[in-house]
Amino acid sequence: MANIDWKKLTFGYTKTNYNVRTYFRNGSWGSLELSSEETINIHMAATALHYGQEAFEGLKAFMGKDGKVRIFRWEENAKRLIRSAEGILMEAVPEELFKKAMIKVVKHNLDFIPPYGTGSSLYIRPLLIGSGPQVGVKPASEFLFIIFVTPVGPYFKEGFNPVDVQIVRDYDRAAPKGTGHLKVGGNYAASMRAGVRAHDEGFASSLFLDAKTKTFIDEAGPANFFGIKDGKYITPESHTILPSITNMSLQSLAMDMGLKVEKRPIAVDELESFTETGACGTAAVISPIKKIYDRENGKTYEYCKDGKAGPICTKLYKTLQDIQYGDAEDKYGWITFIE
Ligand code: PLP
Ligand code: COI
Repeated sequence: MANIDWKKLTFGYTKTNYNVRTYFRNGSWGSLELSSEETINIHMAATALHYGQEAFEGLKAFMGKDGKVRIFRWEENAKRLIRSAEGILMEAVPEELFKKAMIKVVKHNLDFIPPYGTGSSLYIRPLLIGSGPQVGVKPASEFLFIIFVTPVGPYFKEGFNPVDVQIVRDYDRAAPKGTGHLKVGGNYAASMRAGVRAHDEGFASSLFLDAKTKTFIDEAGPANFFGIKDGKYITPESHTILPSITNMSLQSLAMDMGLKVEKRPIAVDELESFTETGACGTAAVISPIKKIYDRENGKTYEYCKDGKAGPICTKLYKTLQDIQYGDAEDKYGWITFIE
């Protein structure tokens, strides 16, 4: 077992023993290499470096009370990586190769999976980049697929405690017909200024609006937004929003709880009418929101007035985590065990 203070882990990089890599060259994927190097050797004219031809994924492995390792819905991440690859003209990683690489890297880093009960997990980060050289703006003909893992705690330092977020109107993360629905690096580069400023101003995250009309809620930084009211779980769906696997899962759990699910634009004005709001994603799981502050006009929307997460966010969070850690039945078949 690695010498790590599991309960104090944040969402950061911790070195593990191995990563796995494979190259697409001359029209086919090569063998999977197990590496203990943290660095990669890359052509200085690689398209990933100049033109942002790269995509990544994020998923987690959880250690159960029974000592079994569970990976949550990897098939959805594999499919999304294929969509991201196709969206920016990279060679897609076949689902079977994704699975083989993921199992190999997790199996070789079992000592780094946080023990049951610590609230931490093993974050799995697949990365696909254009590694071949181009000087013109064209896709590479060589690609590198890597998966590394790193043990993590909560994305927001508050954990499951309610956070404050800030509506930004002077930056956009994604263009209306751009790449917001894909998990590609450019979206994250575009979001950094707003995200860092939000932190500096005391907020956990920025809350973006749709770039075209600036009237609808878009992404909550690196997470999707959802709101609860009148027995409904409401979440925006748009070409500029990443289809979150966590959000998809919460929608199923919400329906199990008897809530209706609505996927539709959420106008900023509607924020007033929610009883609970939250941000959701693999890294964040659920972060209940206590305050949404509109930076431009000072308008504030408040939830969790007693300082605690609302009942629906709490139940969704607990149900999801119970499935992930193996404390509740996996009736949807979301879990893959590492044998
Ligand atoms: N939105 C953005 C911009 C993200 O980076 C993420 C993280 O992957 C999400 C939403 C949540 O997606 P998921 O639940 O699949 O992790
Ligand atoms: C995730 O939730 O998995 C993410 O990738 C969010 C962020 C770290 C980019």
